[in-house]
Amino acid sequence: MSAMPASAQSKTAAPQPSEGATAEGATALRPHAEQAFAGELAALAAQDDRPRPARWRLSPWAVATYLLGGTLPDGTVITPKYVGPRRIVEVAVTTLATDRALLLLGVPGTAKTWVSEHLAAAVSGDSTLLVQGTAGTPEEAIRYGWNYARLLAHGPSRDALVPSPVMRAMAEGMTARVEELTRIPADVQDTLITILSEKTLPIPELGEEVQAVRGFNLIATANDRDRGVNDLSSALRRRFNTVVLPLPESAEAEVDIVTRRVEQLGRSLDLPAAPDGMAEIRRVVTVFRELRDGMTDDGRTKLKSPSGTLSTAEAISVVTNGLALAAHFGDGVLRPADVAAGILGAVVRDPAADRVVWQEYLETVVREREGWTDFYRACREVSA
Ligand SMILES: Nc1ncnc2c1ncn2[C@@H]1O[C@H](COP(=O)(O)OP(=O)(O)O)[C@@H](O)[C@H]1O
Ligand SMILES: [Mg+2]
Repeated sequence: MSAMPASAQSKTAAPQPSEGATAEGATALRPHAEQAFAGELAALAAQDDRPRPARWRLSPWAVATYLLGGTLPDGTVITPKYVGPRRIVEVAVTTLATDRALLLLGVPGTAKTWVSEHLAAAVSGDSTLLVQGTAGTPEEAIRYGWNYARLLAHGPSRDALVPSPVMRAMAEGMTARVEELTRIPADVQDTLITILSEKTLPIPELGEEVQAVRGFNLIATANDRDRGVNDLSSALRRRFNTVVLPLPESAEAEVDIVTRRVEQLGRSLDLPAAPDGMAEIRRVVTVFRELRDGMTDDGRTKLKSPSGTLSTAEAISVVTNGLALAAHFGDGVLRPADVAAGILGAVVRDPAADRVVWQEYLETVVREREGWTDFYRACREVSA
């Protein structure tokens, strides 16, 4: 009499309903923007009385407010997502309401991906219609593919067709995203020309086409350090409005960005808030900026720049890792020793050349600077 109970037991051991509940109840490691900021988006939608372009969840004004932050009439605070020139955001949002697509261009870590995700979330309520560009991205990733079992069983039909995120965005009037456009091979990139100029995606196998519904648009990002950028065909380039995202204009702006993001990330990693971390955050930002600019803050000493980008995004991860170290192995306060290893890792990418750059910076700048003795020692310790 064991067969039945055994199977019944295994059912009770992993009951369907509670499995579903767990999946739903568990928090995603990294929620999409529209999930993480659902409350803000709902508040904006409720109080937004300006005209909305077809299928937009919010007016352009409300989308810009969502990105830049602000306070709504009822007192709801919208946190800034992007810290930078307001005009950049306004141009980007406006572009999405025209028949041109948006190309976000900039060096690594200037928030291109971040802005793209938040724009899609605010405009369409969905940031997941995403194509990740790589040297191996096939045409199917932008057009459509086939479910081969169905294709073989029933021949080509709409049922057997697997739409790409771009095709779905076209059919539903949503925002599609293409990451790292310039890494995609040129002939595959060119698939986008018909989509962006004719707003249609032909399916020759079925003698049909998908016509884009109003509300469709596309946001692409590209790294202007990639050699491929200039290879964007002029026909494709003309379909885009290019918006360049700059590096933070001042040290204060960069400290502000790092502090905000670290706080958000720390919350999602259950790290305690670190009230006394400001000095260290300032220090990380200073080191990154000085090495990036090839000049000390006071403009007195010329420096060699290392090969890495030392972006704001890397500063954020150095500080976040430092906070984790402080929380788990220290007293919770961010100290020089918690960031030293991270800084070294970010600066020394090329073991030979970058190490020389770092040693020189350490001995000529860090060592002499007032109040930086502990930091100098911590760096010496990890550099040895
Ligand atoms: N100006 C900025 N405003 C807000 N966050 C920024 C800014 N610059 C960088 N960041 C942060 O840097 C991180 C990485 O940005 P990301 O979008 O991945 O860079 P990119 O795609 O340009 O390489 C994000 O977490 C983002 O919050
Ligand atoms: Mg990116």
